[in-house]
Amino acid sequence: MVGPAESTGEHSGIKRSPLRPDMTVRQVAADYPGCQEVLRRYGESERESAKFGHLEPLGHFARRHGLDSDQLLAELAAAAGVEVDRQAQQTQAVHRPFLVSALAITLTLGAGWGAWLLWEIGRAGQFAAVPASHVVAHGSAQLWGFIAFFVIGIALRYLPMSVGGPPLRPFFCHLLLAALLTGVVGGFFWSLGPERAGWLGPLSGSALGIAALVFLIFLYHQLAGKLHFTWARLILAAGIWMTVWAGVTLVLRYRENATGPGSYSESIRQLLMELAIFGFTLNAIYGFGQRLLPGIAGSATPHKSVIEWTFWLHNMGVLLALPASFARLAGLEALAAAMLTAAALAYVIGMRGFLRVRRSTPRPEVGEALLVRYVPLAFFWLLTAMALLVAGDCYAVVGSQSLPHPYLGAIRHALTVGFMTTLILGVAQRLVPILEHTLLAWPRLVAPIFVLIATGDLLRVSTEMATLFAAPAFVLMPFSALLELAALALFAANIVRTFWPPLDPLLRTGQATLRTPVALLLAEYPWLEDQLLGWGFGYVGRVRSVPRELTLGTLARSEGKEPEEILARINDLLQRHFASRVGSGSDGR
Ligand code: HEM
Repeated sequence: MVGPAESTGEHSGIKRSPLRPDMTVRQVAADYPGCQEVLRRYGESERESAKFGHLEPLGHFARRHGLDSDQLLAELAAAAGVEVDRQAQQTQAVHRPFLVSALAITLTLGAGWGAWLLWEIGRAGQFAAVPASHVVAHGSAQLWGFIAFFVIGIALRYLPMSVGGPPLRPFFCHLLLAALLTGVVGGFFWSLGPERAGWLGPLSGSALGIAALVFLIFLYHQLAGKLHFTWARLILAAGIWMTVWAGVTLVLRYRENATGPGSYSESIRQLLMELAIFGFTLNAIYGFGQRLLPGIAGSATPHKSVIEWTFWLHNMGVLLALPASFARLAGLEALAAAMLTAAALAYVIGMRGFLRVRRSTPRPEVGEALLVRYVPLAFFWLLTAMALLVAGDCYAVVGSQSLPHPYLGAIRHALTVGFMTTLILGVAQRLVPILEHTLLAWPRLVAPIFVLIATGDLLRVSTEMATLFAAPAFVLMPFSALLELAALALFAANIVRTFWPPLDPLLRTGQATLRTPVALLLAEYPWLEDQLLGWGFGYVGRVRSVPRELTLGTLARSEGKEPEEILARINDLLQRHFASRVGSGSDGR
């Protein structure tokens, strides 16, 4: 199920990474000295000014010297005594289909369908205006189709990269994706028309079960030796809760296959939401968050012992919440809510309140400054929602009555959109460029997305609460959907464009810009490396490869040069290079 992370070098006995076509000539020459001879034979020359080998990827080197890339890799691998990793590109893009599916589902079956439901509710002035099955269809599409897809996509890419565990083999990646899509899309249409397609219930439920099991096994392989870390246990707990959630979903879709989710009781719907939100999502957010959020928010190193409390309080709280809400035990519900709230508080304290202690100089590679604000906004909504839940549960115990729908609906929205979605929007706009080794396509969208999701969520939570006292609030409520949908649509556009950016001007026009990646410049025109060295760019001589996201402007500034002047010099050289190539009739490289 999982592929090899590293292969063993035959000669040294030490584990050494396999060769990849995107490795630079210098990297290969440094890591596997046995390869220098092969590279020299094919035209790589010695230089006084820098270490052996240019910062040119092997694929480009082969093309420039008219060699067959596969044959070159095979020769180098034989000289190095390692294997060739031919799936490297696929492994590096494993998250893409999951994230793109998440975006497509939320814009259509999830938030898109939710906006229609809200419009109907607003028009009729009552929540009962839409059938329960339609609401469950929306909720399940969002939780499985948006949140689970996102978490799984990030986990598949991030965990092997950060803990060095074995990546999931392509067959299982495809199986996981197909099973999740069948589970989400099949489940949605089954919810809307169980009388016409009852078989879709068990089919989609089984698909979700398979997906959850594959994901759990993947998590286990990644984290087995790391369970003394709280973050690893939190992530594994997320996988276990997801499997339970999938199991309950399968039983329900099998049992109610002919009637659909319209026949679920309130307590069953509550149980599903608790498994999804508290069991799966919050454990995943706490676990991945411990690793990722300090970097994104610029906050200090987390207090590990306090986050250990989060793990225990939170999971004990989930264990209590499930029987409590299933059997409608108000006292136990209040206790569970208090434990979950204490866990959330412990987490915020453990993460040092996400207070910014590190400031980086503004440059395109560190992302927009506003991205750090998404994290505190999301946690503000988490704590607000939990405080409202505890207050509501205590009121229910004292007053011996259940909480009204708008009150619970507003809390649920504060959790799902205010907390979970805001966090995903903020983290993804920082993390996706890191995973893709590139820049966010449209950094100027970071601010409007933030404003739209923040105001949309505030409007929805406040108007949903206000429907308890004033009927006109129903009229205002659907406008929140426009704001939230707009935020999701802009976010989707930004992520998809980051995955598939337009060709860099360097490749279109032969002229660089300050945002041109240095790695691209040196891959296309390796001779420029010697020019940069001559102009005093010591960095280019020291490294084995250049991070793909490093731009020319940032490199020039960090070397104490005037970026515009360097750009003009480079473009002048490129122009002269092309002119001489046209004169001699060759292709310009
Ligand atoms: C444009 C954004 C959204 C709109 C317009 C929307 C609309 C709605 C509406 C009208 C309801 C039923 C009424 C109520 O109980 O308040 C609902 C319920 C729900 N929503 Fe959303 N929603 C949106 C985003 C989300 C997101 C992002 C998530 C999850 C990440 C989510 C998860 C849920 C859940 C779990 C339910 C309850 C389902 C059930 O009762 O079984 N929604 N939403």
